[in-house]
Amino acid sequence: MLPVIFNLDSDPSLFNRLASALPAEMGELEQRRFPDNENYLRVNSDCQGKDIFIFCNLFRPDDKILRLIFLTDTLKAMGANKLVLITPYLPYMRQDKQFLSGECVSSKPFSKLLSSYLDGLITMDPHLHRYHALDDIYTLHSKAVSAAPLIAHWIEQHIPNPILIGPDIESEQWVSQVAALAKAPYEILNKIRHGDKDVEISVPSNSDLQHKTPVLVDDIISSGRTMIETVKRLQEQGMKKPTCIGVHGIFSGEAYQALAAIADIVTTECIPHPSNRIEIAQPIADTANELLNELT
Ligand code: R5P
Repeated sequence: MLPVIFNLDSDPSLFNRLASALPAEMGELEQRRFPDNENYLRVNSDCQGKDIFIFCNLFRPDDKILRLIFLTDTLKAMGANKLVLITPYLPYMRQDKQFLSGECVSSKPFSKLLSSYLDGLITMDPHLHRYHALDDIYTLHSKAVSAAPLIAHWIEQHIPNPILIGPDIESEQWVSQVAALAKAPYEILNKIRHGDKDVEISVPSNSDLQHKTPVLVDDIISSGRTMIETVKRLQEQGMKKPTCIGVHGIFSGEAYQALAAIADIVTTECIPHPSNRIEIAQPIADTANELLNELT
């Protein structure tokens, strides 16, 4: 029996390519708001005994999470078998520690919530800093797709003589992999974060920098401050205009405009944005298939 795939999200372009790369039948959903703005949701497909993929890309998660929970609950009541969420961006991973007393370590309750309603989860490069793997907090079966081969391929095709720069120690896990695959050197800088939009980046030490094209690689671009401060340090060293590559381009507020004024920007399709250059549908679909085979 073919699995059924539903789209709960607003990224029809990525959804359609995913759906055609998967052996799955298209599920039909009816969604609207009641006059009081509460959500109405109805599943118009037969799901009895079938495995289900739910595409719900959870950037800006608070607007989406309730509909996701409503859908999983409805599908289970209709006799669906395994429920697998496909979310290229996995939110609430960055608060992985209590810095001040009384703070919510939101990654934990969020992982408990998803784990209690779903059997499986596919995402791309989740922000693993103090956690080593999603299994540290998620009890469902998860798989993280790596963007490193896709980014390395893009760099090889577009950037002559690159040097990769990681703005902070967390970025080393991505930058080192991309550098190895693209056969390019890399350097990791130090970042001190003083606040949400206040970061300090160390000066690069590589004496070869002037002769190369700098390519900054990070998992998330949110306020853009990490990338902007890094570009400024490179400018002080007299380097060429850099390319900033983000797996997840969130670009809150004026982040995109501010960064675009001083660097070229490239992102993967994990979050829909005009800077998307790197396609992700095929590796996500392949991994979704693998995970479903392991679950069933
Ligand atoms: C955190 O350490 C991440 O890897 C990114 O460096 C960070 O999320 C970027 O955030 P922002 O764009 O707000 O500086």
